[in-house]
Amino acid sequence: MADDLWTAVDRYIADVMIPADPVLDAALEASERAGLPRIAVSPPQGKLLHILARSQGARTILEIGTLGGYSTIWLARALPPNGRLVTLEADPRHAEVARANFRQGHLDHVIDLRLGKALDTLPQIAAEGLGPFDLVFIDADKESIIHYFEWSLRLTKPGSTIIVDNVVRNGAVIDPASTDPMVRGVRAFNERLTREPRVTATAIQTVGGKGYDGFTIALVLG
Ligand code: SAH
Ligand code: DHB
Ligand code: MG
Repeated sequence: MADDLWTAVDRYIADVMIPADPVLDAALEASERAGLPRIAVSPPQGKLLHILARSQGARTILEIGTLGGYSTIWLARALPPNGRLVTLEADPRHAEVARANFRQGHLDHVIDLRLGKALDTLPQIAAEGLGPFDLVFIDADKESIIHYFEWSLRLTKPGSTIIVDNVVRNGAVIDPASTDPMVRGVRAFNERLTREPRVTATAIQTVGGKGYDGFTIALVLG
């Protein structure tokens, strides 16, 4: 019941502030047609990522977990000319749908999609000297968040932000006895955050069309 209201309010927010957009809408439709899971960020969340990237003046963005590229497109559109976004995806089917969506949105020259498990492609990104990134969006398998965070620290600089999706999981995050690998992944990451002096972080709970979840936002310090 609460979910229905959250979804209705998300729709209302979108009606007021997020005009229909042929590229973003087509990206979701193509993802749906291809049978991809319906787990992209919601439109208000996508626009939040876009605004955060823009307000920080991000020129380089790293995304871990592309799916059909919906969040990628929101983020890529925040970049100035000559900006660059690297996005990492392990599933070839997802990558294929995302690449078509990027072409459709004329963003394929801005977005560099690397196919492969992120823990394999991240060392390559580092070796190629593609960092430092101004913003990192971590949204792949939750079990590995802690490793993606380690790589994010290596690939950012003071003033960069690291954003992590799905950190509340219906409130399950507060259960220390949880056996859900996603929850355990988030909690391991949080324990790591507690002991990390190089960032200052908060987490914000969200409700909406995607249910009850949240984002962590970490600022990399000097
Ligand atoms: N950021 C997207 C949603 C990503 S869903 C959006 O909001 O639009 C999570 C994605 O991470 C899935 O496409 C999944 O295939 C991918 N993924 C899962 N494990 C991964 C791994 N080890 N390396 C890279 N990508 C992975
Ligand atoms: C789910 C949601 C996400 O945003 C994600 O990145 C992965 C999984 C989910 O609801 O299962
Ligand atoms: Mg997510």
